Amino acid sequence: MKSGETGQLAGKNVLLGVTGGIGAYKAAYLVRELQRQGAVVSVVMTESATRFIAPLTMETLSGHPVGLDMFSLTEERTIGHIDRAGWADVFLVAPATANYIGKAACGIADDLLTTITLAVTCPVVLAPAMNSRMWAHPAVRKNLETLVQRGVYVVWPGEGELACREEGPGRLAETGDIVKTVAGCFEAGDLSDIRVLITAGPTREPLDPVRFISNRSSGRMGFALAKAAVRRGARVQIISGPVEVAAPAEASVRRVNTAREMLSQIEQVLPDSDWLVMAAAVADFAPSSVHKDKVKKGDMLELTLTLARNPDILETLKPFKGGRLFVGFAAETRDMLENARKKAKEKGLDLIVANDVSGQETGFETDENSGVILDQGDLAEEVPRMTKLQMADRILDAALKVWKEKGN
Ligand code: PMT
Repeated sequence: MKSGETGQLAGKNVLLGVTGGIGAYKAAYLVRELQRQGAVVSVVMTESATRFIAPLTMETLSGHPVGLDMFSLTEERTIGHIDRAGWADVFLVAPATANYIGKAACGIADDLLTTITLAVTCPVVLAPAMNSRMWAHPAVRKNLETLVQRGVYVVWPGEGELACREEGPGRLAETGDIVKTVAGCFEAGDLSDIRVLITAGPTREPLDPVRFISNRSSGRMGFALAKAAVRRGARVQIISGPVEVAAPAEASVRRVNTAREMLSQIEQVLPDSDWLVMAAAVADFAPSSVHKDKVKKGDMLELTLTLARNPDILETLKPFKGGRLFVGFAAETRDMLENARKKAKEKGLDLIVANDVSGQETGFETDENSGVILDQGDLAEEVPRMTKLQMADRILDAALKVWKEKGN
């Protein structure tokens, strides 16, 4: 047995889609590395990919017929597109061009690869590669966001000199990182005995039947945590404010509006939970009184709103924490670490994720996030900018470490 064949990829069927970018030549190295880890690799190429690397190269390396044409009678007779999709234990597209990402996000199936994309039911991993201005384009970002929300794993491209001689992000991720993400799809659930309660999204504090006070939380961070926890085998309960993000099918979801409703739902579920992860952006204040009817502007030139403090959910639950693990977030615009440490102490948290929400690229309503994970001691793990799903895994890793240190 070759070294590495006992790993997560041993005997796994990897269907590798190659699309037409300069990084396509690196797909050859990917085939070799996946095989070195014990995987069986079969390749499907788009027509443009064949301009960058010959199908014969991929066929010789993989040892399997390369899928090229939807309408080839011989190909469809020996192994059709549905058979290929069913064969795969994991579907990897590397490099994934902006064009492919756009089609995958919209569900367009106009060649063999995009048709397979709609037919696979296994985990999907994409490794995008393109010019840095294309990578930054809002259309590409939106399409990727759609795919990430559907549970697709994205291996973020690297930065550096690109084939077009420009500098910036967009270079196909390193082969080792792509293979690691593919192998990660088969990791045994390290959270399988753990019941995780995750809060997500904003709360809405009504002023009258049509108006409310709220914040910009989209729920993406909380739902990413739920997706990652489900994938790692945890039993997940989500309590969410009003958001549009889709929840993983395996998690139960309770929907709330106000901070008080969120507290009341958490109180019901907490006895059956091991971890509480408070990613929700809970409103600290609510209108002191809620008008029964819509407030009319009439002759009013000004309206003074009186707000009352909402209960602090974590502080309220602190006396009932028992042996549970509490993880909080600190959304900060300045003095991030200092404020986060203070909050962790006041709220009795085992871990706090300090989140800089002053920029446009991370924090609220974005697909990416960054921050620092702090424990009660001196640990400070810096999490650089990455997808919220990737960051969720980092947070769960840190939480699991503390959980084990507590003797669980
Ligand atoms: O939803 P997204 O668009 O993906 O954005 C993600 C996020 C920025 C909302 C998320 O990553 C985040 O930082 N969530 C916490 C936001 C927040 O409310 O931070 P805070 O510093 O105000 O509160 C500190 C902690 O106390 C939080 O865990 C919060 O859930 C909790 N809290 C806050 C107020 C309150 N009344 N009760 C609480 O328990």
